[in-house]
Amino acid sequence: MIISPSLLSCDFGNIQRDVNMLNASGAQWIHLDIMDGVFVPNISFGFPIVQAVRQHTSKYLDVHLMIHNPDAYLEAFKSAGADGLTVHLEGAIHLHRTIQKIKDLGIRAGVALNPHTPVSSITPLIKEVDLVLIMSVNPGFGGQQFISDSIRKVEELKTLADELNPNLIIQVDGGVNLSNAHLLAYAGATSLVAGSFIFNAENPLQTIEDLCTIP
Ligand code: DX5
Ligand code: ZN
Repeated sequence: MIISPSLLSCDFGNIQRDVNMLNASGAQWIHLDIMDGVFVPNISFGFPIVQAVRQHTSKYLDVHLMIHNPDAYLEAFKSAGADGLTVHLEGAIHLHRTIQKIKDLGIRAGVALNPHTPVSSITPLIKEVDLVLIMSVNPGFGGQQFISDSIRKVEELKTLADELNPNLIIQVDGGVNLSNAHLLAYAGATSLVAGSFIFNAENPLQTIEDLCTIP
């Protein structure tokens, strides 16, 4: 299980300290949520934060773009240090082209599906992508409640991936905690994003360890 702690829930006055905590953890990835106030009703952070995190970690930077017109910024996020870029199916008008652009940059290409978007929407492109992200909350904020229908969507995506792209990384983001993590792993998820569950925990390192060792 690839655990990708979301920095959205870190202490922004102490980002370096929190990145060092993640460096000491078993998490393989760090999840960075980019929000533009247009695609989602919130604004988070941009290139300077990605660059700064890049300077303090060698972990895989998993960048989740919740932005309008992602094509315009792909190269800049790669230059800032992204190892993988995930765009929203709902935010990309020419999704096939966007995916090719990400792959041409030599990094992993992911597509995120909002809770209302059916899994079948990704069928025509599933062979082209490295990762599909099932959003288990409406994107825009940390600390929201997990939408339980996401488990069924993971099962459906797993069936599709077994047939068309067995190497696909199946990621889930939003409201992930230890109890739903077990169900998601069983359904076929191979990567879990967790923000508030990790950073609000009494012992974040142990919480990451617990998530990493889910069977
Ligand atoms: C939500 C973001 C998530 C968020 C998850 O729009 O994409 O990555 O940080 O936070 P939790 O785990 O608190 O739901
Ligand atoms: Zn995210």
